[in-house]
Amino acid sequence: PLLLGVMGDPIAHSKSPAMHNIALEAAALPGMYVPLHVKPEHLAEAVTGALALGFSGFNVTIPHKVAIMELLDELDESAVQCGAVNTVVIRDGRTKGYNTDGIGYVRSLKEETGELSGKIVTVLGAGGAARGIIYALLKEKVASVTVVNRTLSKADELLNLLNGSQTTLKSATYDELQACLPETDILINTTSVGMHPDVDATPVEAALIPEGIIVSDLIYNPLETRLLREAKARGCKVVGGLGMFVYQGAYAFEYWTGVDAPVSLMHSAVLEAFN
Ligand code: ATR
Repeated sequence: PLLLGVMGDPIAHSKSPAMHNIALEAAALPGMYVPLHVKPEHLAEAVTGALALGFSGFNVTIPHKVAIMELLDELDESAVQCGAVNTVVIRDGRTKGYNTDGIGYVRSLKEETGELSGKIVTVLGAGGAARGIIYALLKEKVASVTVVNRTLSKADELLNLLNGSQTTLKSATYDELQACLPETDILINTTSVGMHPDVDATPVEAALIPEGIIVSDLIYNPLETRLLREAKARGCKVVGGLGMFVYQGAYAFEYWTGVDAPVSLMHSAVLEAFN
């Protein structure tokens, strides 16, 4: 049987086991995906342990996504470009790290909104989540990405890591949103502003959101943030963060098993785990 799991600290509330066990069952693959509570000081031993126990792979979540990188035999381009790993594949006794967060998010965005090539995108935030998403947007050949951040220097640092593509990359402050939003096709929030318990917070004043654009939030707790609620009221197409979670898992499942992930079943399993 396939042995899979997720290493994190804390880990008790992870929805990944529910999502992946349903997927294994639906694909008629004998196996099990288990939550693994691993403290930072035990991460190296945990990786060795997973190899010794015959695991086929595992996810890593907070706080291990960066620390795991130096413990693996090999890193995929996605992991190098994102500077973090969320998925480890074990094959022939060797470990390889991938990052499926950004490509997972972009796959869900594309599914909800259509082709992304040529689009003008504004990204709020310049942290790890933004990096993974911008990496994936560049692969989709979007026309431009403007990174808006409180700390402008962090936006510039991020863009320096990602240059060398045909997409125009710019940085901006929140004061410049008024100028850049009217041109924007897709607005994506990667900051934690609006996340539970601060559900009354929003990163962008509603009046600044152009009517009818695509507005997306990586936050999935709550499922509909204030940003999305206000954007919807302005006739925008809105895309929440749950799809990112489901599709990062779908890619991981496909890397481990070589079988297409039963995405809609995984989606309903996660929703059920929330209720
Ligand atoms: P993550 O991995 O979730 O992206 P991170 O790397 O800590 O987390 O990045 C958090 C991002 O959210 C940063 O861009 C941060 O802005 P600063 O670089 O200026 O700190 C942004 N952020 C967090 N709280 C914010 C707030 N209250 N208002 C605006 N931006 C915020």
